[in-house]
Amino acid sequence: MNRITRRRMMSVAGLSLGGGIVASQSGRNEISRLEAPASDDASRAPKDPRPRYVPIAPEEAAARAYQVFPEGGCMYAAVKSIVTLVSEKDAAAVPPVFLDMFKYGSGGCGKWGALCGACNGSAAVIGLFHQEAAVRDGLIGQLFRWYETASLPEFTPPGGKAGDFPRSSASSVLCHVSVNRWCKKAEADPLGSECRERCRRLTADVAQKVAGLLNARHATDTARQGKTASDSLGQPAAAAGPPESCIACHSTPSKEKDAGATKVPKSIARMDCSTCHEMKPDHPVEPRS
Ligand code: HEC
Ligand code: HEC
Repeated sequence: MNRITRRRMMSVAGLSLGGGIVASQSGRNEISRLEAPASDDASRAPKDPRPRYVPIAPEEAAARAYQVFPEGGCMYAAVKSIVTLVSEKDAAAVPPVFLDMFKYGSGGCGKWGALCGACNGSAAVIGLFHQEAAVRDGLIGQLFRWYETASLPEFTPPGGKAGDFPRSSASSVLCHVSVNRWCKKAEADPLGSECRERCRRLTADVAQKVAGLLNARHATDTARQGKTASDSLGQPAAAAGPPESCIACHSTPSKEKDAGATKVPKSIARMDCSTCHEMKPDHPVEPRS
């Protein structure tokens, strides 16, 4: 029964891992634990069955993302690069993941030009390893703010020459804005092959950044509490960026005492506001204390 169950899990895993999940010697317990945590085997299951991050080399994440991008696009490559590298380091750290699922994120989700798939996939990976909202959202915030402001792509593929490729700052995590800003700079066709190469390199940059963020978080967790990483201690570093004051007024729920004064229109947004909103000169500036 265990064998059949395991084979079925592998067939959907979409993972091809040297020394990874497939080759796990503890595979029998591993998989039955994931499928039926309350089985009679429960006494032998590890204490904390949540996926756990194992540090990987950021440059390897970049190279892997660039390599697998043609198989399924930006979101797929962002997820697969990190998940497979972690699995190769520790087969038991990540449960089987049906990676083909993440192909939907290409082109800003089904080619809608919405959230950049590299961002979307990276946020999924962050959510895989960090389930506490404050930690998860803090890491996503750091990644997204970097994505909005960094001049990308930086990654140079094997055989390429550094600095021979146009770069731009995306100003937005939206695929539509990010792609077209670059295409304007590079005088390229957003639906053409040069732009696809840009997204391929950019996905490598994003995977590298995510690995760096996860490594740093892991180091903090490890330093705090010995060997086990946990989400319950420590606050994430605030995402640096210009719109923090906008967020304080517009994207944070009002406190009771604020009611009554000029009503602040609320919105769910942490993106760079200036990409879409032009501020009137008489606009309020400092949050009231
Ligand atoms: C001190 C609190 C405060 C801060 C900080 C603040 N706002 Fe506002 N915002 C307001 C209030 C109050 C209104 C409603 C003004 C009105 O109705 O005349 C408003 C209105 C708006 C509106 C809708 C009306 C319009 O002007 O188009 C937008 C959009 C907006 N703010 C964006 C921003 C952005 C972007 C930032 C950061 C650069 C920001 N706000 C910073 C308080 C603030
Ligand atoms: C991708 C473009 C985009 C970005 C980025 C963006 N907004 Fe908006 N925002 C809009 C649009 C479009 C509307 C709807 C405007 C309308 O219907 O008049 C809107 C509406 C709003 C409103 C309601 C305005 C009202 O009159 O009630 C507020 C407040 C607002 N945004 C604040 C922000 C803040 C703060 C940020 C940054 C943290 C931000 N927005 C980022 C596009 C954007």
